[in-house]
Amino acid sequence: MTLSKKTMNAQVMQQNAYLFRCPICSEAMEMVEQSRLVCADNHSFDLSKNGYVNLAPQAHVTKYDKSLFEARKVVMSSGFFDPVIDALVKRLDSGDNQAVVLDAGCGEGTHLSEILAKLPGNILGVGIDLAKEGVAAASKAYPGVIWSVADLANCPFQNTQFDAILNILSPANYAEFTRLLKPGGLFVKVVPESGYLKELREVFYEDKVQKEESDPVARFAEHFDAVETERITYRFPLDEGLLEPLIRMTPLSWGASEEKIAEALRIILPAITIDFNVILGVKRAG
Ligand SMILES: C[S@@+](CC[C@H](N)C(=O)[O-])C[C@H]1O[C@@H](n2cnc3c(N)ncnc32)[C@H](O)[C@@H]1O
Ligand SMILES: [Zn+2]
Repeated sequence: MTLSKKTMNAQVMQQNAYLFRCPICSEAMEMVEQSRLVCADNHSFDLSKNGYVNLAPQAHVTKYDKSLFEARKVVMSSGFFDPVIDALVKRLDSGDNQAVVLDAGCGEGTHLSEILAKLPGNILGVGIDLAKEGVAAASKAYPGVIWSVADLANCPFQNTQFDAILNILSPANYAEFTRLLKPGGLFVKVVPESGYLKELREVFYEDKVQKEESDPVARFAEHFDAVETERITYRFPLDEGLLEPLIRMTPLSWGASEEKIAEALRIILPAITIDFNVILGVKRAG
């Protein structure tokens, strides 16, 4: 008998319900009837049709909508991110077959799912994102992982439960991440560098670099030991049909007129530049 996605996701959540804490009152939670998470103070959160749980107490409207995540999934499933995934797998492969890995800002879940598939052993994956459409897509496409709508600034998990936290092209919350990591746990952040999608930026921003944080490496050193960086730069061939989802998946096109998007779609681009910095740090003891 094949289990439904909801059942598969609910089972993983039930077996690991000890990880959760209520986003409203911070009490411990348990799974009831494989259909909802309930805290000791009776705050109750139903599982969705495909088995994710929404633990963001307020509804959030974000610019990350269903069509953006569909476009992201097409691009991310094309091999676009493979060298980054391989670098992350190498760093995460600690030999601990029972590790628990959180992807904070998981989007539509492809990165976490690919990383779990490449890591040996029985790693538990947990993906959170504030955008419901991303988590809904993740729970539908990739069962067997804990998927939750949640704010990474108020993570609905108990202290010191995670062996590693991934934070890929998403905002960080260093206080929360250090709270969640086990002592010696690994934090891995992927940030865009100056060459990332430069061919598209030339169209949309006349090549002004848009950076998320002023200096993420310096911020890392305030919170983590053994800080290391690894620059990953390559050109990815753009097969037919990939330019449109690439344009649609990125905040670069937000606020751009349809004419500007049409202009970008007309350019003949054999390949696109990918340029990331992977920043790693280990949670400080004590
Ligand atoms: C550029 S996307 C990256 C998604 C995914 N990591 C990827 O690389 O495809 C940034 C993500 O951060 C999420 N995000 C932004 N603020 C957040 C918050 N406070 N809590 C959780 N997720 C957040 C967005 O919803 C979005 O999915
Ligand atoms: Zn509660």
